Amino acid sequence: MGYDAVAVGPLDLAAGTDFLKQQGNSRFPWISANLLNADDSPVFLPFIIKKTGKSTTGIIGLTGAAPLPANLHLGDWHIILPALLQRISKKCDYIILLSNLPKNDNFEIAQRYPDLHIIISADPQFSNLNPIINNSTLITQTVQQGKYLGRLDVVWGNNGKWESVSDKQRENNVDDKFPSTFSSSFIALGNTLPESVAIQKIVSGIQQRINRLNTPSKQINTIQDGTTAQKTTEPETVFTGFEQCLPCHHLQGDFWKSTQHAGSYTPLVKAGQANNLECLPCHVTHETNLSQKDPADILLSLPSSMQAVGCEVCHGAGRAHVNNPDNIKPIRKPAKHICLNCHTRERDPKFNYEEKIKLIQCPKG
Ligand code: HEC
Ligand code: HEC
Ligand code: HEC
Ligand code: HEC
Repeated sequence: MGYDAVAVGPLDLAAGTDFLKQQGNSRFPWISANLLNADDSPVFLPFIIKKTGKSTTGIIGLTGAAPLPANLHLGDWHIILPALLQRISKKCDYIILLSNLPKNDNFEIAQRYPDLHIIISADPQFSNLNPIINNSTLITQTVQQGKYLGRLDVVWGNNGKWESVSDKQRENNVDDKFPSTFSSSFIALGNTLPESVAIQKIVSGIQQRINRLNTPSKQINTIQDGTTAQKTTEPETVFTGFEQCLPCHHLQGDFWKSTQHAGSYTPLVKAGQANNLECLPCHVTHETNLSQKDPADILLSLPSSMQAVGCEVCHGAGRAHVNNPDNIKPIRKPAKHICLNCHTRERDPKFNYEEKIKLIQCPKG
């Protein structure tokens, strides 16, 4: 993706340092000045120096607190940073710190080391952070999980200070000493952006692998010998599946079958994603509190009458009502928040409850 440098963050270490180093070999420069081996040598490059045009930029990485294997430890930035800055300040016109440390540490660093021009932080407690001028350093970050792309445009000055004035004002400045100026924006990476074919290919490859990993071996066997899997509803669950509702509510049942909710499992099958636990919660009917149990146990062994956005998604678990229809009433009209469980901002940015409810509401009778 053309990154110049990436600072190793606590979660990047989840698969081990060897894994990251292998990725590094394919031109992905992981950096960290404070992630150290037992002998205090850095595990990754502590910094890189990048030449663009006439200027030279130093980029330093700092890793935040993380559970580490016994042979690694985090060094103290109070000791590491001043030594490092002394080494590289003379060689570099600009220095950028990629910091996984918490906000207070970053502000302390900005106070102590005026040689640092920009700190790009990654404190999970904060969302997108508009650039803040602190001493002679600019501090900014984007929210975690890649939901936004942060863009920072800088016009470098020569007096070691920052000012958030427009370029126009700067051109009018007759003084030959002037501050650096900046403008910034955050670009939401929602599904309204067109897909990149190359990236989509990588994502789809990973999704197919996830799906294969989750495919129960029984299911692989039945697919191979061509017979259909015999699935049964667990007797103790409060959900029954849509088929139980049809005898008494065939009018509503016929209508529901004409809506896209009735066929919501099919696109997953077509995409080879019917065993992807990321997709299933929104494309089937299931217990509401998945977090209390292993989602795989529930989502991968649903009876076919729950492999759809069925009646019970909107009207609530129906077994008690089926057994005692006159005394136990289901939810009549599903509230907006029920729809928003699935029609999220990311998946369905234009969703409008008042309009959409008209399209799916079952007929009276
Ligand atoms: C044995 C017959 C029977 C079955 C099976 C049945 N229902 Fe009902 N349902 C009824 C009766 C009777 C009423 C009450 C009708 C009334 O009060 O006018 C009702 C009412 C409802 C209502 C309206 C509630 C209200 O407050 O007006 C909904 C929604 C509903 N059922 C959904 C379901 C769902 C979902 C299922 C399947 C899980 C289901 N029903 C299964 C008989 C049944
Ligand atoms: C947060 C809920 C949610 C998750 C998770 C989710 N989807 Fe969906 N999906 C939806 C909703 C809602 C729609 C319908 C929105 C629309 O039509 O714009 C939809 C529509 C689709 C469609 C289009 C269906 C059609 O008829 O054209 C496909 C294909 C699809 N999803 C596949 C997937 C796959 C594959 C995954 C997992 C990688 C996934 N979805 C995960 C909620 C979700
Ligand atoms: C996506 C949500 C959704 C799904 C799925 C759904 N319904 Fe409904 N249903 C509604 C809404 C909305 C209404 C209208 C409630 C109102 O305005 O009072 C409704 C009304 C009803 C009523 C009451 C009808 C009356 O006489 O007024 C019944 C019975 C019912 N649905 C049964 C079912 C059954 C059976 C299924 C599955 C086969 C089903 N619904 C699937 C949303 C849904
Ligand atoms: C469990 C997840 C889930 C819930 C809850 C849910 N939907 Fe959906 N909805 C879907 C999926 C998935 C699709 C796309 C299915 C497909 O295309 O195969 C969809 C499609 C639709 C569509 C057709 C596509 C479109 O955007 O016009 C409408 C309308 C809709 N849903 C309205 C609602 C409303 C209103 C509610 C709340 C009463 C609701 N849905 C609740 C998952 C859900």
